[in-house]
Amino acid sequence: MSEYLNDGNGIEEVTAEVPALVNPQHKSIFESGPKGQPPNILNSLKRDHDVFKTLYQEYNTTKSKSDRERIAKEIMKGVDIHDKIEELVFYPALRDCGMEMGNNYVKQSLLDHENVRSSVYELNILFQDEGVESQMFNNFFNKMMTDFIAHAELEEHEVFKFCQKVFDDKKLAELGKELDEMQFTFQTTYCMNENI
Ligand SMILES: [Fe+2]
Ligand SMILES: [Fe+2]
Repeated sequence: MSEYLNDGNGIEEVTAEVPALVNPQHKSIFESGPKGQPPNILNSLKRDHDVFKTLYQEYNTTKSKSDRERIAKEIMKGVDIHDKIEELVFYPALRDCGMEMGNNYVKQSLLDHENVRSSVYELNILFQDEGVESQMFNNFFNKMMTDFIAHAELEEHEVFKFCQKVFDDKKLAELGKELDEMQFTFQTTYCMNENI
């Protein structure tokens, strides 16, 4: 597991523990940054990606239908929130960084998000109509996760490294705080809607 730290001379990756999976209905899924350090948007987003990958592995290995339903719902909801928050906090900052490359990454990312979003939309219908055990749901779910993971890897391997060059620690921390606050708001809203 990698953390993105800026030592002033470029990007340093350090090992961190895989965050424990928690129910997003009860608290923000991820804590930002290493313990005692201010939030860092790149660490928060990377932890999102890692949790979805771990959940997907769990989805593929469990034999329990109820676990598959729970995990599938958690992933579909979580991916939707993750992408929306990136679009509200991360991409505007990237677009305004003053470099054309930032704008290009945003354009590509929005296309990738649209692709995943339309799959999640279809999956919600298939979840109700066919169920998680159907071949059709599984095919769509695997496609959505393959697309999501490919996009997450583009972000981690290219976009995050670009961000380390164009943003200083203070800016990354500010964005991290903003992202965490918005994530909490989105999760609370989802939670309230589910309880109606
Ligand atoms: Fe993204
Ligand atoms: Fe992402």
